Amino acid sequence: MKSFKREIPYNQLPELPPKKDIQSKNVLLKTISASRVLAQLNGALINLPNPTLFLDTIHLQEAKASSEIENIITTNDDLYKTLITEAKTENSATKEVLNYKKALWLGLEKLEDKPFITTNLCIKIVQCIRQNEAGIRSTPGTSLKNGRGEIIYTPPSGIELIQDKLANLEKFINSDKGIDPLIKMAMMHYQFEAIHPFSDGNGRTGRILLLLYLKTSGLLNIPALYLSDYIIKNKISYYKSLQAVTESNNWEQYLLFMLDMIEVTATKGLLQLEAINHLMATTASKIKLKLPKVYSKELVEILFKLPYSKRQTLIDAQLGTPKTVGNYLILLEENGFLQSTRVGKEKIYINYKLLHILEQNDHA
Ligand SMILES: Nc1ncnc2c1ncn2[C@@H]1O[C@H](COP(=O)(O)OP(=O)(O)O)[C@@H](O)[C@H]1O
Ligand SMILES: [Mg+2]
Repeated sequence: MKSFKREIPYNQLPELPPKKDIQSKNVLLKTISASRVLAQLNGALINLPNPTLFLDTIHLQEAKASSEIENIITTNDDLYKTLITEAKTENSATKEVLNYKKALWLGLEKLEDKPFITTNLCIKIVQCIRQNEAGIRSTPGTSLKNGRGEIIYTPPSGIELIQDKLANLEKFINSDKGIDPLIKMAMMHYQFEAIHPFSDGNGRTGRILLLLYLKTSGLLNIPALYLSDYIIKNKISYYKSLQAVTESNNWEQYLLFMLDMIEVTATKGLLQLEAINHLMATTASKIKLKLPKVYSKELVEILFKLPYSKRQTLIDAQLGTPKTVGNYLILLEENGFLQSTRVGKEKIYINYKLLHILEQNDHA
């Protein structure tokens, strides 16, 4: 470890797995409790009548928070309005967040064809986030700085060296070394960030990989977990614990941080899922009672797919003619289920109670 100097490319970054056994008793105990909650969340998600219904919303939150860690800041309002009206936004942060969400979907889609995390997949993801053709960095000069502008870490330099380290990481991820999958996920994340293969977008790509890994490893079949919420709230510890692995080979501190992230966000996810499910069930029965002609299961699902909807969404779902579904929305607003707002030429309807549940969990 003595070879590490903050301003010098860390070409000696050790390959995975580390030489010494890092699965200490503390780490294993935390792995058990984190796995327990994660399995509960997985069960709750799988048992939903429509398991993927909330994915869009959760991924949008994840995209917003993960981007915010990198100081790309937008509001829920701008985000949802842009998404729902498909309007071109002038807000570059909103654009980046929507690209992040696209990149997450792209990753999940690619896993359907080939269930492995590979270097190529990482490149596709970062290109989608950054909307360019950039590949692995080939010019020197990438370094990480703290708030005072001091260099705290300089990743390995030289494209071939970076490729070799990525190849080792890929092999590690996809082979069984008798390491618990959650611990492996955390190790993968450190290694990816330490290699820092791109000139930008490493943090966001690395956090997308966490969700992809949870999916491929079968720990979370429906990757609906809002992980970045925890990182944003504990950003200093996140950076410090990554740095502690590099500077003092302190895997324990880092692994406990990552495992706590899983435990805390899965616990919150469970509560949020319960709250949303409950709201959906009560909303459905109230609509049935007050507006029996408007009610259908499909309609209620649309109102919960994203907290914002518009007339076209209902038309696309074949719920009726433009006039009929327009009336549905008016009636739903008159009866207090939705609140409308105008965005340009379009009127959009907010499921404000759902939005409230989502924003309760928001760090902002
Ligand atoms: N000491 C460190 N060692 C390795 N990686 C780090 C360290 N501190 C922070 N990071 C990672 O680097 C990311 C920032 O890298 P960057 O390429 O700018 O990502 P993005 O473009 O997504 O902002 C952080 O989010 C974190 O994941
Ligand atoms: Mg950045």
